[in-house]
Amino acid sequence: MAKTIDAVLNGHLRGAHSMEMNVLQMLVALITTTKDPEVTSLLERHKSETEAQIQRLEQRLSDRGEDTSTLKDAGAVATAFFKGLGDVARSEKATKNARDGYVTEALEIATYHLLERLAQRAGDTATAEVAATNRAEEETMRRALDANWDRVVDLVIAEEGITTK
Ligand SMILES: [Fe+2]
Repeated sequence: MAKTIDAVLNGHLRGAHSMEMNVLQMLVALITTTKDPEVTSLLERHKSETEAQIQRLEQRLSDRGEDTSTLKDAGAVATAFFKGLGDVARSEKATKNARDGYVTEALEIATYHLLERLAQRAGDTATAEVAATNRAEEETMRRALDANWDRVVDLVIAEEGITTK
């Protein structure tokens, strides 16, 4: 039997929630290892935004009658992709973190584009609005990362004592 749009939407809402729980863990790890104060405050801001995004997604799941008691566990299951993000021991971590952070924002933006449209098809305006709100914050974060490529390279050159001549 074909799935209903509501079932598909619930699956995407759960997926978005799990993604954000992983992002939250990643941000906490990044904040503890980032030395640059400007980058740290950017990460702190996005951590607060991410916590609010998680709350909004949980509210939508709950309003849609989904069982939210199992959600906390889902976030603890890091995918191989996100596990890679936590590997801060390797050298040139500033460039790795910047690249992975940018990829993560793109993943989040794509997730919310799809969630918004699925919600519209399902006639769930409130979920569509949550998706749009969350996506706007991810787009702001991606623009902030986009403005920092030179800074990241400066950082890694300084941290690693790389000679440029
Ligand atoms: Fe997010």
